[in-house]
Amino acid sequence: MSGIPLLDTLNGRVGSPPPVWLMRQAGRYLPEYKETRKLAGGFVDLCLNPELACEVTMQPIRRFGFDAAILFSDILIVPYGVGRRLEFVEGRGPVLDPIESEAEIPPFDADAFHAKVGNVYETVARLHEALPKEVALIGFAGSPWTVASYMVEGGSSRDYAKLKGWAYGRPEGFAKLMDLLVDATVAYLDRQVAAGAQVVKLFDSWAGAAPESVFRHAVVEPTAEIVRRLKALHPEVKVIGFARGAGAMTRDYAAATGIDALALDSAIPLAMACALQAELPVQGNLDPIALVTGGDALRSETDRILEALSGGPFIFNLGHGIVPQTPPEHVKALLKQIRG
Ligand code: CP3
Repeated sequence: MSGIPLLDTLNGRVGSPPPVWLMRQAGRYLPEYKETRKLAGGFVDLCLNPELACEVTMQPIRRFGFDAAILFSDILIVPYGVGRRLEFVEGRGPVLDPIESEAEIPPFDADAFHAKVGNVYETVARLHEALPKEVALIGFAGSPWTVASYMVEGGSSRDYAKLKGWAYGRPEGFAKLMDLLVDATVAYLDRQVAAGAQVVKLFDSWAGAAPESVFRHAVVEPTAEIVRRLKALHPEVKVIGFARGAGAMTRDYAAATGIDALALDSAIPLAMACALQAELPVQGNLDPIALVTGGDALRSETDRILEALSGGPFIFNLGHGIVPQTPPEHVKALLKQIRG
């Protein structure tokens, strides 16, 4: 046992109560986040300010005592690092200049990348110093398919028509973009681990947009390549994979990528979660809206999950990120229920 409950679970231990943290546990539902955010300028400035990014990462740890801290940054810092313009517009979300042609995809330039995003590694180093030793430090990146969606669509998308158009109709350009993102992600996570991240999470939030044939080469294979190269550099690092919306293809993702643990979204039935847990530790999968609702609904949804998954290696979490309208006292009640 390491004295770090989340790491023990990732090593296969069955813990009671299970370790718990929540996706997007730092953010706009916390008044102290909104205060710090005002000091930063834009959202990208906040992500690249080690002092303030460290502060907002620590806020939910201080308030709730979670078992893990997740680095405060964003998956879109990788496109920014490879030279794309990135802005977060109030009420609209991320805006990027969409990639229109293969000629706009450069080979990966590690020095230029680290020069642009190096402050993130400084944030990780500060967190490594600041966190209580029993709290695991999670670094992260978006997975290539999900990050590519923002790069070709120019922001969030309803139908992923451009992304899929590239995957189906422009295989060479698509492969070039995937290769760039695999290289950048390995370089980015390598430095996060070197700075003190013990665990990394790969967010494939739009995995569910990929049909079966695309899922293999756009979700499974790039993820497997990242895990293989990262573990060659850091054999001790643990990787949590999250292929949101992958449904029945989640099994293939869990078996073929080399991830150490599988994060589940709220649409995965608990019987399937249990079956997957026989193969590897699982994390999830409370509906974020049950956390907004609170009361009996939150209690019974939480109980169902605890009953189904507490018998194996399990990390309690949401099935997707906390939403801004979540009352912080519901988070407190959830932790009390889990920990007794
Ligand atoms: O506490 C944490 O979880 C750490 C920080 C974190 C953020 N984004 C902060 C953030 C993490 C791990 C992410 C990951 C992320 N970012 C994902 C994958 C996880 C998921 O939710 O599916 C995705 C798809 C993004 C892209 C992104 N970032 C979008 C679409 C948006 C706009 C929508 C929104 O929620 O505002 C963001 C902005 C963002 N990232 C905010 C935060 C706290 C809100 C920005 C603000 O403060 O105004």
